[in-house]
Amino acid sequence: MFSRTSTVAFALATLPSFTAALPPRSNVCNVEQPTDGTDAVPNILDAIDKCGTDGRIVFSETTYNISSVMNTYLTNVEVDVQGTLQWSTNIDHWLNTSLPVGYQNQSTVWIFGGDNVWLHGGGVGTFNGSGQVWYESIIAFFDNYPRRPHQITLGNLTNSAITGLNFYQSQMWTMSIINSSDLHLDSITINNSDARPGHGYPQNTDGADTLFSNNITFTNWTVESGDDAISCKANSTNIHIANCTFHHTNGLAMGSIAQYNDNFEIIENVTATNISFYDSTQAAYLKTWAGIPSGNNTYGPYPPNAGGGGRGYIKNLTFFDFTVSNIGQGKFAPFSITQCYFANESIPNICDSSTMQISDVVWEDVRGTVNNSGGDVGSFQCSGRVPCTGIEVRDVDLRDVGDGSVLGGGYLCSNVSEPVGFECTGVTGQT
Ligand SMILES: *[C@@H]1O[C@H](CO)[C@@H](O)[C@H](O)[C@H]1NC(C)=O
Ligand SMILES: *[C@@H]1O[C@H](CO)[C@@H](O)[C@H](O)[C@H]1NC(C)=O
Ligand SMILES: *[C@@H]1O[C@H](CO)[C@@H](O)[C@H](O)[C@H]1NC(C)=O
Ligand SMILES: *[C@@H]1O[C@H](CO)[C@@H](O)[C@H](O)[C@H]1NC(C)=O
Ligand SMILES: *[C@@H]1O[C@H](CO)[C@@H](O)[C@H](O)[C@H]1NC(C)=O
Ligand SMILES: *[C@@H]1O[C@H](CO)[C@@H](O)[C@H](O)[C@H]1NC(C)=O
Ligand SMILES: *[C@@H]1O[C@H](CO)[C@@H](O)[C@H](O)[C@H]1NC(C)=O
Ligand SMILES: *[C@@H]1O[C@H](CO)[C@@H](O)[C@H](O)[C@H]1NC(C)=O
Ligand SMILES: *[C@@H]1O[C@H](CO)[C@@H](O)[C@H](O)[C@H]1NC(C)=O
Ligand SMILES: *[C@@H]1O[C@H](CO)[C@@H](O)[C@H](O)[C@H]1NC(C)=O
Ligand SMILES: *[C@@H]1O[C@H](CO)[C@@H](O)[C@H](O)[C@H]1NC(C)=O
Ligand SMILES: *[C@@H]1O[C@H](CO)[C@@H](O)[C@H](O)[C@H]1NC(C)=O
Repeated sequence: MFSRTSTVAFALATLPSFTAALPPRSNVCNVEQPTDGTDAVPNILDAIDKCGTDGRIVFSETTYNISSVMNTYLTNVEVDVQGTLQWSTNIDHWLNTSLPVGYQNQSTVWIFGGDNVWLHGGGVGTFNGSGQVWYESIIAFFDNYPRRPHQITLGNLTNSAITGLNFYQSQMWTMSIINSSDLHLDSITINNSDARPGHGYPQNTDGADTLFSNNITFTNWTVESGDDAISCKANSTNIHIANCTFHHTNGLAMGSIAQYNDNFEIIENVTATNISFYDSTQAAYLKTWAGIPSGNNTYGPYPPNAGGGGRGYIKNLTFFDFTVSNIGQGKFAPFSITQCYFANESIPNICDSSTMQISDVVWEDVRGTVNNSGGDVGSFQCSGRVPCTGIEVRDVDLRDVGDGSVLGGGYLCSNVSEPVGFECTGVTGQT
């Protein structure tokens, strides 16, 4: 094991500071919205043809009708979004045309790839997914409904930055980050609330999901959504998250991973610091599928909506300096681990079947209020085959949102080897 204090100090000191500035370009393309209100995508692709290498592409202060999927690749380009890109509401069209992203049969309406790209919105540029029509459809009630698209996929995007953009009502996940590296995503605001009063927040509208990506930095994000704020999935490495505020989310989700039988997947080196959580279910939680494929699904125990049996590990996650307000949603422990995500618990010992070891995870300096009926601070269900090691909790001051009493300090543990900074007070429901 290694010293956490030095880890945290190091991680904070080395977060990159963003200095997005490409040299001024003489090669500038202004994208026009057709005056008859029809699809602007042909004009966008035309601008990319002309200015997609060593150029500058400008979306002016107007609303663009986006009615076709895009798969684009830019090199040394600045994209300046002053207006709104508005996706059309024709669900059948999107279900027919969305582009596969190669994971969980999911799909997207824009694969945004490139190298040395700066996409910026100066705080006003907006991507409006017109998600309301999706939220009001039956499709919203299914997990990973086939071809329900992500709003944007950063796919094969390297050495780039996205800053000052607003995302409104994404169709499904807002931003998937796949096969990408060395990105800085700064000052991003995401609001995926249902516009109908009393309907709350739709599901599967994550803020961001990283997959097969390395060295991704998120700073100054504000996310309002009914699902994960930021989720690190298969092969997410060196992910830094700082200075963010999350409303009504499920917080930071590490996983799920291990859904694909026999695949080797990892999550390693994640830091999250100075994060505020309002009305979330949890703060930061880890989820792996069990070691045996299972699931109650018409397609059998396979992805997209069931599975398990993946190998790999989760290692070195640091959650530091969190403020929480009314989190727990009546029942959740703010810190949690499960290694039998969606498992069919009628299979004997399935929760002990995972071979994916979890090690060196710390929650440190966490304060605020919890709404889980006087429940537990932590619930850590690790696999009996590979007990968790280096699970650490330090400097926690959590109080009941109702009466202000200090949360009991309960920690439910299954197969947690040598907990650091806390004592296990019981076992989790899944053993
Ligand atoms: C957007 O463009 C599509 C295809 O050109 C068209 O069918 C649709 O009516 C347009 N939407 C609006 C709001 O004008
Ligand atoms: C979607 O595809 C189906 C089957 O090919 C076709 O019947 C339908 O017209 C398409 N809908 C749209 C909106 O493109
Ligand atoms: C998911 O994709 C895989 C591989 O392309 C395919 O074999 C499978 O049938 C798909 N499953 C569903 C539920 O669409
Ligand atoms: C987004 O589009 C919807 C229509 O689908 C509209 O009602 C809403 O005002 C738009 N919001 C923003 C922020 O552009
Ligand atoms: C990235 O590029 C590879 C190789 O060209 C391609 O197979 C893959 O589909 C791309 N991935 C994404 C998410 O765009
Ligand atoms: C990580 O990405 C940032 C850009 O966001 C870059 O400045 C930095 O050099 C990268 N770090 C490493 C170790 O490659
Ligand atoms: C954070 O993002 C918000 C919304 O875009 C912006 O107003 C604010 O200036 C940003 N703060 C910093 C420190 O960049
Ligand atoms: C987070 O915010 C603090 C205070 O505004 C600032 O000093 C620090 O540089 C920010 N961190 C990052 C990684 O942007
Ligand atoms: C995921 O990472 C592991 C460990 O580095 C590697 O063995 C595996 O090939 C990666 N998977 C993919 C699909 O890139
Ligand atoms: C853990 O991850 C942090 C952040 O990437 C890194 O600074 C640190 O060196 C890592 N620790 C180990 C032991 O790998
Ligand atoms: C994690 O960070 C440590 C320390 O910086 C580094 O040695 C290791 O290679 C990193 N792991 C990955 C998968 O990048
Ligand atoms: C499987 O799902 C069906 C329909 O949702 C449900 O009736 C049944 O109880 C489930 N079986 C198990 C073993 O969970």
